[in-house]
Amino acid sequence: MSRVDLIELVRDKVKGLKAYQVENLDEGIKLHANENPYPPSPELLKKIFQRLDELELNRYPDPDCRNLKQAIANKTGAIPEQIIIGNGSDELIQYLMQVLCDEGDTIAFPDPTFAMYGITAQCLGLTPVSFPLNDNWDFEAKTALEILAKNKTRLVFISYPNNPTGNCFSEQEIQKLIEQFDGIVVLDEAYHDFAGKSFLKEMDKHNNLVVLRSLSKIGLAGLRIGYGIFPSVLAEQVNKVRLPYNSNSLSQWVATELLNDFAHVQNQIHSIVEERSRLMDELSKLSNIIAYPSNSNFILFQATNGGEKLFNELKKSGTLLRNLNAHPRLKNCLRVTIGTKQENDQFLDQLRKTSL
Ligand SMILES: Cc1ncc(COP(=O)(O)O)c(C=O)c1O
Repeated sequence: MSRVDLIELVRDKVKGLKAYQVENLDEGIKLHANENPYPPSPELLKKIFQRLDELELNRYPDPDCRNLKQAIANKTGAIPEQIIIGNGSDELIQYLMQVLCDEGDTIAFPDPTFAMYGITAQCLGLTPVSFPLNDNWDFEAKTALEILAKNKTRLVFISYPNNPTGNCFSEQEIQKLIEQFDGIVVLDEAYHDFAGKSFLKEMDKHNNLVVLRSLSKIGLAGLRIGYGIFPSVLAEQVNKVRLPYNSNSLSQWVATELLNDFAHVQNQIHSIVEERSRLMDELSKLSNIIAYPSNSNFILFQATNGGEKLFNELKKSGTLLRNLNAHPRLKNCLRVTIGTKQENDQFLDQLRKTSL
């Protein structure tokens, strides 16, 4: 019988980490994960069932994701050689760090932002460094550049729009950052469909830019599809660390169909943007709620009577939000994903009852 001390074998750096916690609800309204509340179109679902037969699930998927890359190329104007598919854009965040950083190097991002930049860095033995956002949830390039230089950082992540604050940072400041930084700026555009803004075009002028996108926010969260547009020379390097067959056949096929016939998703995006504006108006009417303007499919708000309490009461009545109270800059803050009209009404009803 073996009696190895398993924990003793684990790297100290990993022992010190906490697993990324994702709350879930079996029943009720899920407004915590920034998913699209609408399912894929009936036409797409029907095609999936018809196509399952032909997918040859006993075979490995296309390792180069050729059809999906072509669909992305058609939509974005990038060439397939610039595109890498990830099992979610999370995976591409990790690949970027693996390609550009040695153990002990730093990576940077504004704070508060998407937690996975810091978590992934720590998992790889890198040191996360942040530059604070101001009270408008924006940053100045000058301060960011000073922090990047001081820490000899070669990689900076900018969530555009920013999760969890919801806004797009000042274009001018990002532009300065791109122009004056001697490293790679990653524009993480996971939410760009809801903002109508992008830095993709800037890739023609600057070779230190990477744009990440995700299909998780627009309807395929369950299939885990993200993509990155890289300068071709960098894409070649990323392909060296990419795991073989990291994107499965079904996900590749459905994502290709969704991108090639985008009208249905575009309508869903319109509805979400309209609901965002209605939800924002309604939240602004509540005296104990401070809601922050959003370019995303979610809204960050502060509950002045206590965020933790509100979070728990909403959860008890069947609505799950994202609780951000643990972050020092986000005391009493919760993040609500824009749901369907019915879900938003139910959330507002519960909120009015609990927060007044
Ligand atoms: C800013 C940002 N980037 C990337 C991701 C990861 O998305 P996925 O791995 O589902 O593509 C998320 C998910 O919440 C996000 O908020």
